[in-house]
Amino acid sequence: MTVALEDSIQQRLKDCISLSSSRLDFWGEFIRRAEVVRMAEVGVYRGEFAAFVLKRCERVNRYYMVDPWRHIEEWHKPANEDDLTFEHFFQLAKAETDFAGTRRVILRGTTTEVINQIPNNELDFAYIDGDHTLRGISIDLISFYPKVRTGGFIGGDDFSRTMWQHKSSFEPTLVYPFAVYFAEAVSATIYALPYNQFCMQKTLNSHFSFVDLTGGYDELGLRHQLAPEKLLKMTLRERFPALAKIAARTRKLVS
Ligand SMILES: C[S@@+](CC[C@H](N)C(=O)[O-])C[C@H]1O[C@@H](n2cnc3c(N)ncnc32)[C@H](O)[C@@H]1O
Repeated sequence: MTVALEDSIQQRLKDCISLSSSRLDFWGEFIRRAEVVRMAEVGVYRGEFAAFVLKRCERVNRYYMVDPWRHIEEWHKPANEDDLTFEHFFQLAKAETDFAGTRRVILRGTTTEVINQIPNNELDFAYIDGDHTLRGISIDLISFYPKVRTGGFIGGDDFSRTMWQHKSSFEPTLVYPFAVYFAEAVSATIYALPYNQFCMQKTLNSHFSFVDLTGGYDELGLRHQLAPEKLLKMTLRERFPALAKIAARTRKLVS
């Protein structure tokens, strides 16, 4: 990708950041400015993001909603509800987007179950917000990349600086750094954005770089997050929350 094109994308992202005060606002602005017509959302849940985008971005006329809306035994994350709750969320997501019934395509299944129903090079934008574990983000980025046209974008949520986004009994979140390594493998520039979001463009003749527009991502490796003293601290915090609160208050008083 030419330096001028990279600069203009970076400027577009910065403009969207300055105009937005939430994740939804940011992507609404970005999707409008990128003139997205066909897109996919992986992980739809109650349909809040889908409804927002379909309302805000009139040009979007094919919106693939990818979600199994069922309990997944091997998915150890807090959003893994029971089947009944997911059925309710499915009905909710449908009701929320009924106003755009002719513009949406509901694909009920996991990424691997439904990916073949999306043609290659179909999408201007894929928004990845499903299974944020190492397994999930690997499958989603590798599966969706061929579905995005050259010049299109892949973005996503939960680009969390820490893999310990939830309690240690849950599977770690590894969108970051996996998405950065993925960008390196496909020679793309990847941007870290506010609200724990990321974005990269699929281009020919590009090169890898990691551009942090938040200033908060310093350590790409995992050794600090897996250091024994860090794990011990986390375990103590989780097992003895009252004690951890007292220690934090004492530290505040002393400093
Ligand atoms: C955090 S929620 C998505 C929130 C939604 N994008 C929003 O902004 O309102 C995660 C969703 O990912 C879905 N999910 C989990 N594993 C998945 C997989 N393998 N493929 C597709 N979706 C998956 C879950 O069913 C759940 O609804």
